[in-house]
Amino acid sequence: MSKQRILSGIQPTGNLHLGNYLGAIRNWVALQDEYDSFLFMADLHAVTVPHDPQKLAINTLNVAATYIACGIDPQKATIFVQSHVPAHSELAWLFNCITPLNWLERMIQFKEKAVKQGENVTVGLFDYPVLQAADILLYEPDLVPVGEDQKQHVELTRDIASRLNFQYGSEEKPVLKVPEPLIQASGARVMSLTDGTKKMSKSDPSELSRVDLSDDADTIQKKIKRCKTDPVRGLVFDDPKRPECNNLLTLYMLLSGQSKEAVAVECADMGWGQFKPLLAETMVEALRPIRETFLELTSDRGYLESVLRSGREKAEAIAAHTLANVKTAMGYTIPR
Ligand code: TRP
Repeated sequence: MSKQRILSGIQPTGNLHLGNYLGAIRNWVALQDEYDSFLFMADLHAVTVPHDPQKLAINTLNVAATYIACGIDPQKATIFVQSHVPAHSELAWLFNCITPLNWLERMIQFKEKAVKQGENVTVGLFDYPVLQAADILLYEPDLVPVGEDQKQHVELTRDIASRLNFQYGSEEKPVLKVPEPLIQASGARVMSLTDGTKKMSKSDPSELSRVDLSDDADTIQKKIKRCKTDPVRGLVFDDPKRPECNNLLTLYMLLSGQSKEAVAVECADMGWGQFKPLLAETMVEALRPIRETFLELTSDRGYLESVLRSGREKAEAIAAHTLANVKTAMGYTIPR
């Protein structure tokens, strides 16, 4: 029997941080042996908010380097760039024409991003989940590993697939495979270092709110020294009144590879003055090999490009096949 398939992606809109690693990439690494994995850089999504053309290509290569530095093996997983496979945009258009407007009006992330941006919200930002549906459905994955914040987009994807199947397929012969979301454990939801109630984010204006995977030891030490804590002595998980405490303990747990119980016991009587250096040291050591490999890879552009070239070839073949099936079902002739 052939392996089940997973597909996921990250937007190349800035340096990847601890949240991307612990919340997403680390899980993909764990899944890559068991699943046929398709992992991409969502560079078409990256232009749905204002972007710097000078940085787009380099950010895209950096995300590819980060995937590999974190342990994604290009021999096992297919790593590719969304814009290198034109079927994504083409299928998104076809989906646009079967997706009711009010399905998109319900998208929470759009509402949040639109509020943040104020003026000049583009059609692209509104349409972003339809492009995401195309990203996913082209590869007929069984599972889509994403964070909680993307669950609604995967549900929309399922709705679009079912609608297309209903309108243009038959029950015996569905056009598209309907995938399942694979929501990552909540323990891996990494929060901001300056506000334990907000997710760690690339777009947070404060650098101190996140640890980038390319940060050096001094920078990490500084960020941990200055991160937000609380005046309480003794450290515990899961106290809703102490979100920072829960986040920092969770980081320590994940980065040290210890169980929650072990960390709870170890830190029960600690004050912040004792815990912070321990966390900083653990973080520096855990991220050191990732940072070193990242720096090596980013200085070897030829290698990265060769990985992306073979990724594109594999992705393209599958995507073209699915797109042709959809076009045929919708009544298009496929030129030969
Ligand atoms: N929207 C996702 C995010 O911002 C990125 C993404 C784009 C994605 N296309 C996807 C994730 C397809 C999973 C599957 O995190």
